[in-house]
Amino acid sequence: MIIDTHCHLDDDRYNEDLDEVIKRAKDAGVERFVVPGADPDTLERAVKLAEDYKEIYFAVGVHPYDAQNYNRAFLEKYITHPKCVAVGECGLDYYRLPKDEKEKEAEKKLQKEIFIDQIDLANSYNKPLIVHIRDASLDSKELLKEYAKVGGVLHCYNANEGLLEMAERGFYFGIGGVLTFKNAKKLVQVYPKIPLDKLVVETDAPYLTPHPYRGKRNEPAYCRLVLEKMSQLSNIDINEMENIVLQNSLKLFSL
Ligand code: NI
Repeated sequence: MIIDTHCHLDDDRYNEDLDEVIKRAKDAGVERFVVPGADPDTLERAVKLAEDYKEIYFAVGVHPYDAQNYNRAFLEKYITHPKCVAVGECGLDYYRLPKDEKEKEAEKKLQKEIFIDQIDLANSYNKPLIVHIRDASLDSKELLKEYAKVGGVLHCYNANEGLLEMAERGFYFGIGGVLTFKNAKKLVQVYPKIPLDKLVVETDAPYLTPHPYRGKRNEPAYCRLVLEKMSQLSNIDINEMENIVLQNSLKLFSL
């Protein structure tokens, strides 16, 4: 069994065919799904999905792009739901910062404030964090080290060696379609240095579709393609790799 530890099944792009998407996933051995929260609208949809499908779990969180919509009370409303497994996705994303120096600083400050608040929420309810990091590794690491009393998973497009020390602090590394890209040199280099007991699989569907479907809508069934690449790079038999990743995922989310 594979668990897609990060897929946005609440996205509009699945409105028409979610049942088929789930069926294809199951046919590929992907039998559980964690849908992270991103903004307040999608969170309510994620909760509804978790209530309608026994295979779906969700997390409560606000993505750094939606920082201005942050509302802690709204997240707390759902955090004690039996199918809420984590806080996230939350974190820092400096990829699209405003050009103006003053606006840039204000945006970074806001992102940090709501990230710290969500770390505090995770601490209070003893839930793991689903952390989104993009072009902000140093600041993210600093805040996690200073505030996090729980572990979680780092969902990162641009993995780098600097983040590896987080493995010792109870953080897992979400490996997705980027690993299969022809130009994924950096992640391919860092990947073997991630401890085996800290690897989990994620698609981030509908985004970041693995090779050879890159450019099309992503879906959880493609976890299998990521797992195959991991098995090759780790030089571990695919079935054994699947089991390692499953045990890690179960532990990460206390499933
Ligand atoms: Ni995501």
